[in-house]
Amino acid sequence: MVAPSPQVDRLTSEQIARFKRDGFLVLPSVLDPELCRQARESLWKLIERYLPRIRRDDPETWTPVTDEESEQLTAHRPVEGGDPHLGGGGHRLFARNGAEQFMLDLAPRALWDVAEQLLGADTVVWPAGVDESNTATGPSFMCDDAVGSLVTHVGNDMGFPQGGSFETEPALRLPRTGPVWLNGQGSRGIYCTLPGSPDPAPDYRGAHSDGACYSRFRVQLSAYIDDVPPNCGGFAVWPGSHSRIWPEQWKTFKAGEKHTDKHLAKRRAGGYTDPVILQIKRDTPPVDCHGPAGTVVLWHTKILHIPGQNASTDVLRQATIYGYMKTPESVPDALVVDDTDGDIWRDWADEVREAN
Ligand SMILES: [Fe+2]
Repeated sequence: MVAPSPQVDRLTSEQIARFKRDGFLVLPSVLDPELCRQARESLWKLIERYLPRIRRDDPETWTPVTDEESEQLTAHRPVEGGDPHLGGGGHRLFARNGAEQFMLDLAPRALWDVAEQLLGADTVVWPAGVDESNTATGPSFMCDDAVGSLVTHVGNDMGFPQGGSFETEPALRLPRTGPVWLNGQGSRGIYCTLPGSPDPAPDYRGAHSDGACYSRFRVQLSAYIDDVPPNCGGFAVWPGSHSRIWPEQWKTFKAGEKHTDKHLAKRRAGGYTDPVILQIKRDTPPVDCHGPAGTVVLWHTKILHIPGQNASTDVLRQATIYGYMKTPESVPDALVVDDTDGDIWRDWADEVREAN
C-alpha cells in the first residue's frame, strides 16, 4: 500500500530504541494543522447539534455531562446500528467520527510509513474507512473481547454470537459509527476530557492495558487535534510496563484464564488489579504526555495507561486513538493465540527486533 502524503517522517534508530525500551514515544506537532482544524470543526459541529449547552466560546459551559444528558445522547443511536455520533458521561465526551476520510488521513494514514517501519512492510491492515453503503469491512479476530465490543458498540440485535470463536472473521462488516477500530478500518473518533476532571492519583484505579494479548494489535497512537498543555488530560503512561505485562498475560492465558473471565473471584491478568499492574503502579511513576496540536503518542498496545487528569479550567482535551493491526496473512490465527514463549517483538520489523 502506498500511503498518501503528507507522511510523518520515519523514526530514527534512536527513536526506535527508545520506543522499544519505554513502550511509547512522543512526536510533537507532526500532524497536518489543516486536518487538525477540520477535526476540531467536526467535533464542535456535533456538540452544537447534540449538546448545545456546551458552547465553544465559553469554557465555563464545559462542565460534566449529566446522567440525563448522557441518556439523551445515547437515544440518538443510528438506526443502522453503531454508537451515537456524540456520546459521553461525566468528564468524558466522544465523537464517533473515526471512519471519516479526513479522520483517517489526519493520523492513521499520516503515520502509515511509521507503522510499516515498526511492524514490517505489507503486514499491516490498511485503514480504508467505509464504502458507498456506509459499511467498514475488514478482518477481526473474534475473541471474547471483540465480541463483547460488538455487542456494546453495535447493539444486541446484530446477530453476533455471545462468545468468541477465537478465529478470524476475514470480512467483518460494521456500520459507520460502530467499533470500526476492531477491523482496523477506522479510529475511535475524538475523545475529550472536560476541564476539572478528578485526579486519578495516587491509586490510578482506571489504569489498564488495552484488550487481550491474543490479538493482532501491536502499536497504537493517541493524537492531539488541539494543544494539550501539561496536566490537561494528556495520555498518561507507565514507561517500560509493556514488557512486564506482556509475559504475565501470556502466562495466565496459557494457564487457562481468558481476558474476559470476569466471573473469577481472583483474576491474574487482564483486569485493573493484576498483580503485575499493582506492582508497576508501586514502583514506577506515570508520565504525562503533553504537547501542542498535532502531537502524536505512539505506544505499544500492552502498555499501562490512563487518561490523565485535566486540571485546567479552560482546556478541552481532544485526542483521537487508532490501533495498527497485523494482517491475518502475516500473523495467522495459530500465532495470534500462541506467543507463549513470550517474545514481545516477534511480529515486529527486523529494525525493531534488532534495536537496543
Ligand atoms: Fe485504553
